[in-house]
Amino acid sequence: MATRILLTGGAGRLGTALRGLMPELMAPGREELDITDPASIERAFAQYRPPVIVHAAAYTDVARAETERALCWRVNVEGTRNLVRTALKRDVQFVHISTDYVFWGDEGGYREDDPLGPVRNYYALSKLAAEEVVRVLPRHLILRTSFRPSPFPYPVAYHDLYTSQDYLEVIAPEIALALQHLHQIPYPTLHIATERKSVYELARRTRPEVEPRSRQEAGVALPEDISLEVSRWHGLKHSWNSQGVL
Ligand SMILES: NC(=O)c1ccc[n+]([C@@H]2O[C@H](COP(=O)([O-])OP(=O)(O)OC[C@H]3O[C@@H](n4cnc5c(N)ncnc54)[C@H](OP(=O)(O)O)[C@@H]3O)[C@@H](O)[C@H]2O)c1
Repeated sequence: MATRILLTGGAGRLGTALRGLMPELMAPGREELDITDPASIERAFAQYRPPVIVHAAAYTDVARAETERALCWRVNVEGTRNLVRTALKRDVQFVHISTDYVFWGDEGGYREDDPLGPVRNYYALSKLAAEEVVRVLPRHLILRTSFRPSPFPYPVAYHDLYTSQDYLEVIAPEIALALQHLHQIPYPTLHIATERKSVYELARRTRPEVEPRSRQEAGVALPEDISLEVSRWHGLKHSWNSQGVL
């Protein structure tokens, strides 16, 4: 029988894709489970009694976060802290969706245990702080990832920003696979991403007419190479394959 998993942010981009892949996920909307409201979290935990929570709800507008700092902090840091407080009382396994932006992003190839920060923008700061809140829990898994909707949604793409992000239809099944094998993941942190490439290169795969632009033209500070090293994830899949688990 599939593990009972409570998902926050189930109406978001990643949440919607995960629900499509794992219909068994319990995913109350924000009107039922508002992570900034501790009472609604208590009610949801009492109702769903989840052994596992996957926390994908977040304030995710990177540019707007610069001017809506209080809201971004309230959702990403305080909201995560509210969930963690409830999870602590109930011995819940906590899976936290995080981002490559917790790294500075000049060298690329970041490993799970590399030092975090400094960060380029306020959204990244809030996600870094949220990770540290989650690390308080004895049973946690921080999944760092990055994804785009497909086709690439903008007419221009940065040729000087390197990333290991991929389209949601590539990343979501990988995250679903990790969730289905949670008990066989012996790490507190795991990167789920694909190979290093420029955002422009990625964009051309689904929008061939996309035009190259420099990240210097973005309204918010962006890294030059935020790519993640993913050998830990590849190693896990390889061992599951050879054990016949997959
Ligand atoms: N998009 C990326 O490229 C990217 C990259 C790396 C990591 N991530 C992380 O992946 C996760 C999912 O991202 P996404 O792009 O799927 O986000 P998204 O589309 O912006 O969805 C965010 C979800 O969070 C919910 N939410 C916001 N505030 C809430 C609150 N107070 N209580 C309960 N729910 C709340 C939203 O609810 P409503 O539907 O009601 O607004 C929405 O369902 C986030 O943790 C994000 O930081 C995203």
